[in-house]
Amino acid sequence: MANPLFARKPLALLLEEMKGENRLRRVLGPVQLTALGVGAIIGTGIFVLTGVAAHDNTGPALMLSFVVSGLACIFAALCYAEFASMVPIAGSAYTYAYATLGELFAWIIGWDLVLEYGVGSATVAHGWSHYFQDFIGIFGFHLPAALTNAPFDFVNGHFVRTTSTIDLPAIVITAIITWILVRGIKESASFNAGMVIVKLAVVFFVIVVGAFYVNPANWHPFAPYGYAGISFFGHTLFGQTNAGGQPIGMLSGAAIIFFAYIGFDAVSTQAEEAKRPNRDVPIGIVASLIICTVLYIAVSAILTGMVPYNQIDINAPVSAAFQHVGLTWAQLLISIGALTGITSVLLVMMLSQPRVMLAMARDGLLPRSFFAAIHERFQTPWKSTILTGCFVALAAGLLPLRLLAELVNIGTLLAFVIVCAAVLIMRRTDPDAERPFRIWGAPVTPILGILICLLLMFSLPVENWLRLVVWLAIGFLIYFGYGRKHSVMHNYTAAELSRSGASLAGATRVEPPGPGK
Ligand code: ALA
Repeated sequence: MANPLFARKPLALLLEEMKGENRLRRVLGPVQLTALGVGAIIGTGIFVLTGVAAHDNTGPALMLSFVVSGLACIFAALCYAEFASMVPIAGSAYTYAYATLGELFAWIIGWDLVLEYGVGSATVAHGWSHYFQDFIGIFGFHLPAALTNAPFDFVNGHFVRTTSTIDLPAIVITAIITWILVRGIKESASFNAGMVIVKLAVVFFVIVVGAFYVNPANWHPFAPYGYAGISFFGHTLFGQTNAGGQPIGMLSGAAIIFFAYIGFDAVSTQAEEAKRPNRDVPIGIVASLIICTVLYIAVSAILTGMVPYNQIDINAPVSAAFQHVGLTWAQLLISIGALTGITSVLLVMMLSQPRVMLAMARDGLLPRSFFAAIHERFQTPWKSTILTGCFVALAAGLLPLRLLAELVNIGTLLAFVIVCAAVLIMRRTDPDAERPFRIWGAPVTPILGILICLLLMFSLPVENWLRLVVWLAIGFLIYFGYGRKHSVMHNYTAAELSRSGASLAGATRVEPPGPGK
């Protein structure tokens, strides 16, 4: 008998729903979508995490770490693009999983996306706060210590009390972004486009001016910690280990700087607001990812060429590199670029979160009256935007940066694995569905995407797996306590579905595809 946990949402129903009421405004073109992607991608990763990764894990081989992480993301991005062109409505990977793997997997991935966007936003707001404090410090202003950071940090597996009580700047920037997002997507997109231009200008400045200060001798040795760094639940399998017993090397660096790529998938959550989603969303996803990959490899080459890897600053590596070669005036420029870059990442991540919850609420997995409410005048999912703002502000104000960042990486990698798998399954279960964009080289490319993402997941410290399991367990409690009972799909019958006007052959509950199907 068919198991309702694995009920799949028919493609025809998804497309039919797009025509209903309560939809978002279609105002975004390919350039705006690419800008949204770049806006979501370049931020804390390149401006902050490159320092830690190069100093502690990779040395100049950081360039290769960006290639490996970039490859994982390109394969996943192409899978996202195929789905986004087939199902161009809000909800991203959540919606794709519902159409292919069934409701339980859709819930898991939706909950996982809360981790990526919600917790990711908190991580980024933390980074913003540190750059903001650096920035005002240039002019001699300083906040009282109690308002500068989370009350505790997470160091070598232990919580350590800091001298602060709350991260006030992180809360303030979150409140400002929430207000902008409630006002509307068009205004948000214009605001974002302006910030993307500023941060790209600063990244180009770093590459072009920095190139004159590269000393090729700094690139030797190229991989002082080796090329590996793979562990399996805490046991290092390949490569060197640091004093804390954690793997180091080029691959472990790739698992850390993976954070720098997170965000391209946010473009797919804006599919419902795209003017021509079938064409423009794949363009937005792939173009933004390619632009960022090239820039990241260039910046890491410049950074490790300007400063010996073991002298790279781990807090503000890029501006410190310019100080290192005597260009102190560049510090102000770079901190403005970093601040702007991180703001636009925050904007897009916080834009994406309520749209995933909107899709889940439309399916009855979250309370509809709250999460699917669209503001009459602004036409934005305003209630869930405000809730997201409160969640991000609390997490950013009170939780340590490291803990948040590691959790985001493993959660996002899991989401990518599921999306790549879903493309393979969908090709078998719905071979004739219209695919305006098809990933090249399938099934090899999605399989490579799965393998590289798994490799990166195993290159992260083991605590992250435990946190991921706890996060998913909380998600199951919510699903079995609420979503399962209120699921719209559970209450549909084939007759009701066909009365809804959709052409819904095969709209009954179906079993998950088993081996050999
Ligand atoms: N990729 C985003 C950043 O680096 C999350 O800030």
